Amino acid sequence: MKAVVYDRYGPPEVQRIEDVERPAPRDDEVLVKIHATTVNRLDVHTREANRGSGLAVSFLSRLVSGVRGPRRRILGSEFAGEVEAAGPAVTEFAVGDRVFGNSGFGFGAHAEFMCIRETARMAHMPAGISFEEAAPVTDGALNALTCLRQADLHQGRTILIYGASGAIGTAGVQLARHFGADVTAVCSTKNLELVKSLGADRVIDYTKEDFTANGQTYDVIFDAVGKLSFLRCRDSLKPAGIYLPTDGFGNLMRALWPSRPGDKKVVFQIPPRQTKQDVLFLKGLIESGQFRAVIDRRYPLEDVVEATRYVETEQKTGNVVLTVI
Ligand SMILES: NC(=O)c1ccc[n+]([C@@H]2O[C@H](COP(=O)([O-])OP(=O)(O)OC[C@H]3O[C@@H](n4cnc5c(N)ncnc54)[C@H](OP(=O)(O)O)[C@@H]3O)[C@@H](O)[C@H]2O)c1
Repeated sequence: MKAVVYDRYGPPEVQRIEDVERPAPRDDEVLVKIHATTVNRLDVHTREANRGSGLAVSFLSRLVSGVRGPRRRILGSEFAGEVEAAGPAVTEFAVGDRVFGNSGFGFGAHAEFMCIRETARMAHMPAGISFEEAAPVTDGALNALTCLRQADLHQGRTILIYGASGAIGTAGVQLARHFGADVTAVCSTKNLELVKSLGADRVIDYTKEDFTANGQTYDVIFDAVGKLSFLRCRDSLKPAGIYLPTDGFGNLMRALWPSRPGDKKVVFQIPPRQTKQDVLFLKGLIESGQFRAVIDRRYPLEDVVEATRYVETEQKTGNVVLTVI
């Protein structure tokens, strides 16, 4: 089968198309014929062994994905496709079922076929959407869900979402709205209308206004794009306010630091827990018209290097899809 492989950490150009052996499902696995996948930040960070985040983080990244070189040659975590074959112990899925999901650090989706356990973060596709629309559902949204569930969002709670136009941000706005919170979204001028259409109660253009200087305070500040810091946001949080980061070693340390009741604090789920139930939850939201994955660009699998370069600009709006024919 055709797959995108890489054998050393490095720039987007380390990826190339190769003919590799088609995997065979184990007893509890299905073989999925991939129709669409994505290039996301997990692919990008893993491929460069998180070099951009400093030596300590890069070392930890290599412990996960391979110290000398990548243990798994094929990237790609999000997928949508059809079940081509199923192991004898599989009960939930049958040949021909349309499925979508996320293989996480198992990767393997940048290929014509991949194997995945039936208990993994995978479900039948929501009715009425295409493979291209289903593939980008589970990265930004599962990351956003993991964070937002820490913040007890409900009607009457106020949240500011910074980086509301990225994969995590566009999902975060829709999920926070679903939970009933009052949502203020921050993005650049070109994305204001999109973010409003996703359900933000108000939007702030960060190129024109600094939200930390306008005197407004929030129960929760969600940095969906890793560009803020707790210290910068502290005065914009209400008493006992929660700061939700998406990455950053410093944030991790601060989240582990003990706090007193009533303190403003950083909250990070460690380790992050994302389950099949979460994928089913997203499927339900899609079917009831409360969620959609925002797609910026689509590329054929063969153009993975170009797609990756675009993701690395950190300027994509929502998600970048790879189509596999
Ligand atoms: N996706 C993952 O698998 C994953 C997992 C864990 C952690 N993370 C971390 O989560 C963060 C977001 O990931 P993502 O995949 O959602 O990002 P993304 O989709 O690549 O974010 C792109 C968006 O960020 C906005 N942006 C860029 N620079 C900005 C700035 N200085 N201030 C405000 N917004 C800015 C851009 O919109 P505007 O033009 O509107 O500014 C663009 O729409 C990253 O720090 C990533 O490392 C990602």
